[in-house]
Amino acid sequence: MNLILLGAPGAGKGTQAEVISNALSIPQISTGNMLREAVRNGTEYGVKAKAAMDAGALVSDDIVIGILKERIAQDDCKNGFILDGFPRSVPQAEALDEMGVKIDKVIEIFVPDETIQARVSGRRVCEMCGATYHIQYKPSKVEGVCDKCGGKTIIRKDDEPQTVLDRLATYHKTTEPLKAYYEKQGKLETVIGQEEVADTTALTLKAVGVK
Ligand code: AP5
Repeated sequence: MNLILLGAPGAGKGTQAEVISNALSIPQISTGNMLREAVRNGTEYGVKAKAAMDAGALVSDDIVIGILKERIAQDDCKNGFILDGFPRSVPQAEALDEMGVKIDKVIEIFVPDETIQARVSGRRVCEMCGATYHIQYKPSKVEGVCDKCGGKTIIRKDDEPQTVLDRLATYHKTTEPLKAYYEKQGKLETVIGQEEVADTTALTLKAVGVK
C-alpha cells in the first residue's frame, strides 16, 4: 500500500507515520528527516536546503523531488511506503503522478493552528538520529537523552515560535491545496488529531484499515 500523510507542521504526521510503518511493515519516508540528515552531513543537498528550512520555507521542488525519487526506487519500497511530508505542493503531487506512483490513500491529520503552536513548543528531537519526543506527551525515559541511540535531545531550530508561524502560513498557502487535489480523486481521509497520541493512533489505524 502506498500512503501519503498530509497535515500542518507539528500536526503529528511523523508520529502517525511511524505507527503505520510498524503496523504494515512498510517504510516511513520523511523528506524532513532526510533533509535534516543531509544538513547534518553537509551534503550538497543539505547546504542548499538549510537556509529555506531554518526560515520555515519550503526547499525547492527539484531538490526534494530528486531525493524522493532516489528513495522510493530502493528495494524496501517494493511492497509500499508511507510518504511523510511529501508532496507539499501541487507540482510535487504532479511529479509523483508523472513518476507513475499509484497512491492508495491520503490521510490528513487535522489539528488547529493554536494547538500546534502549543504542541511544537514541547517537541524535542535527537540531534544524532532524529527521533522525536514531547516533554509532556512523549517524554524520553531520561530527560534530554534519546531512548534509541543515547544522543542529546534538543529543540529543533525551526520550532522557534516565529518560524512555526511562518511554517503554518506556508502550509496553508502551498500545501493545503493538495486536499482538494486528492479529494477529487476520492483518496482523502481526514483524521482529527486528538490530545492523546494513542487516541489519534487508533483513528489513523482505522483509516488505513488496520483495526
Ligand atoms: P518536516 O520535518 O516534514 O516538518 P513538518 O511538516 O513541519 O512537520 P513536523 O515534523 O514539524 O511535524 P509532524 O506533523 O511530523 O509532527 P510530529 O509527529 O513530529 O519538514 C521540515 C522542513 O523540511 C520543512 O519546513 C521544509 O523546509 C523542508 N521540507 C520537508 N519536506 C519538504 C517537501 N516535500 N518540499 C519542500 N520542503 C520540504 O508531532 C509534533 C509534536 O507533537 C511531537 O513532539 C509529538 O510528540 C507531539 N504529538 C504528536 N501527536 C500528538 C498528539 N496526538 N497529542 C499530543 N502531542 C502529540
